Amino acid sequence: MYKSKIIGMGFEVPDNIISNDDLSKMMETSDDWIQSRSGIKERRWATNKIATSDLALVAAKNAISYAEIDSKEIDMVIVGTLSSDYFFPGVSAQLQEKLNLKTIGAFDIKAACSAFVYSLSIADQYIKTGMAKTILVVGAETQTKLIEKSTEGRDVAVLFGDGAGATIIKRSEDESEILSTHLHSEGKDLKNLWMEAPGTSHGSWFKENQFDKSKFTPKMNGREVFRNAVTRFPEVINEALDFNNLDINDIKLIIPHQANYRISEAVAKRLGVGMDKVFSNIHKYGNTTAASIPIALTEALESGKIIKGDIIILAAFGAGYTWASAAIKW
Ligand code: ACO
Repeated sequence: MYKSKIIGMGFEVPDNIISNDDLSKMMETSDDWIQSRSGIKERRWATNKIATSDLALVAAKNAISYAEIDSKEIDMVIVGTLSSDYFFPGVSAQLQEKLNLKTIGAFDIKAACSAFVYSLSIADQYIKTGMAKTILVVGAETQTKLIEKSTEGRDVAVLFGDGAGATIIKRSEDESEILSTHLHSEGKDLKNLWMEAPGTSHGSWFKENQFDKSKFTPKMNGREVFRNAVTRFPEVINEALDFNNLDINDIKLIIPHQANYRISEAVAKRLGVGMDKVFSNIHKYGNTTAASIPIALTEALESGKIIKGDIIILAAFGAGYTWASAAIKW
């Protein structure tokens, strides 16, 4: 078996900054409510001219340049997203075309906020078995185009932002490696965080040229999501520690999916660590779904919080429910 490692990172967010005060002009909410419940101060919203594949492309180019590779070396593209430009096909094929990557395999992973760690895990397996040598893994979203930007949808609307993060995963010849990945799901409460349409559970969504608009926007049972997240994050982080015979003190940094600062605080408390060990940038970008972990990882690296030899854990929880972790020796 070969080993894999991350050799390049990059991200892109739209220029359009939406502050909590901007939101309070669109719906009944306040800076105080949003900050105290989520830690979010502002987020980026893509304008109509910017699609998920546009953000993914810039993030991918940044990661390729960071990795100092020729894009021709890439032999697979995996994109985690729930807000692809079109219902089908996925963003990965567009990215393959825009990067001029010939006819290499490209596919999307629809595992909501866990999609980046799921995609990283798949890339790791392909490299371990020798089936691929260099894989582009992206998490990209313009989910805010789907949210209801009014008082009716405010519980969801204030939390989300848009962005993309990309990584280059390559066969490792040194001590750096993805030590483990663990993936989980539980579908019984899927309606606690979901978007019903468009989908195939009904006949045509259009009846006499009418459709139920409320089904085309994400819905969330916030309290249940919170309750499950604060259990599953520590569980899957501890699973990574046990698998690798590591103690929490061996971990330099935990990079959780940026769902909500209060969730991260509760996770830190349950793990018995301070917030200095749990990376957070949610105040700037909100919850960017599949993009949040690769964006956070890039910023953690750029700010010197991770150096060669450090062991870090990425952890995700999201719709499905899905949850996952990756332990990485940098
Ligand atoms: N602004 C002002 N008031 C609001 C807003 C808002 N944006 N949204 C909801 N409210 C109101 C509700 O209507 C409700 O009013 P009511 O009491 O008159 O019925 C009230 O606020 C609810 O207040 P709280 O009970 O204090 O809300 P709570 O503390 O449960 O916080 C929240 C709600 C923030 C959604 C919380 O449940 C939460 O953090 N859940 C986790 C959800 C999450 O982080 N999701 C991220 C996406 S999923 C993922 O990435 C894993």
